[in-house]
Amino acid sequence: MFKSLISNILRKSHLLHLSDKLSYLIRKFRNLSVNKEFRRQNPTIKLPPDYLIYESFQLDYKKYYSDSHETAIWLKELLSKHISLFNVNILDWGCGPARITRHLPTVIGNACFYYGTDYNPRTIQWCRDHIKGINFAQNHLGPPLEFNDQFFHIIYGISIFTHLSEPMHKAWMKELSRILSRGGIMLQTTQGSAFRIKLTKKELELFDAEKLVVRGQVREGHRIYSAFQPEAYMRKLFANLEVLEFIPGEISGGRPQQDVWIVKKPNPDAR
Ligand SMILES: C[S@@+](CC[C@H](N)C(=O)[O-])C[C@H]1O[C@@H](n2cnc3c(N)ncnc32)[C@H](O)[C@@H]1O
Repeated sequence: MFKSLISNILRKSHLLHLSDKLSYLIRKFRNLSVNKEFRRQNPTIKLPPDYLIYESFQLDYKKYYSDSHETAIWLKELLSKHISLFNVNILDWGCGPARITRHLPTVIGNACFYYGTDYNPRTIQWCRDHIKGINFAQNHLGPPLEFNDQFFHIIYGISIFTHLSEPMHKAWMKELSRILSRGGIMLQTTQGSAFRIKLTKKELELFDAEKLVVRGQVREGHRIYSAFQPEAYMRKLFANLEVLEFIPGEISGGRPQQDVWIVKKPNPDAR
């Protein structure tokens, strides 16, 4: 919470982007030798530029590549409980530099069609240039996406709503619901109750009143723009979808984990 107070002061004085750049340089320096070693042992793995990894995740090549293969397996296991993973269109909304998407053709198989979108043009350009077999597209901060109604059987977004304002929560939920097929599945992660430990007193009051807590005053969508979603807030946001699973985030090693939501678009034609 002390850290949050400091970051809120930096935010108000418009110094947070600068302090984030500094934090990037510190991480780069700290992880220099482990990252160098990873590159030496894995010379054929295509790694994005450091800032793209940092901006969307953690500047640790092993975590970006090897550990994220495990995340792709976790994703497959969760999704396959609810939908067939054969011959379906799958969208990674807010894919960043393909941390998870890049593993899906090997983890799920080549019988599906994979898509990734992000609002960051540099990350999408890198993905297009380096990751084959996946269709990448750039979107704007707000909708629409370029896809037809009901195009996707599966949409997932790992830590995207966590960087968006309230109007964007509403606009994107509507847009993602539009492109999701009837009977299709969506998985989203959010910063729920486990993140209470990070909130200031004022923010906690809002959170406990089931309101979205937003730390803005920086570029929306950026890693330092943060939103925290109470469970009841998300349930209202998913009003037109059926919640199949809600996995509350826990605190692991002192760090809060995100909530996982799996929802389904109703199919009135299904018996
Ligand atoms: C925390 S990163 C997560 C990246 C990726 N999902 C992962 O798990 O590695 C958040 C991502 O959301 C993207 N993003 C932020 N706002 C977005 C928007 N309105 N539409 C699409 N992507 C967005 C950012 O560019 C960034 O890549």
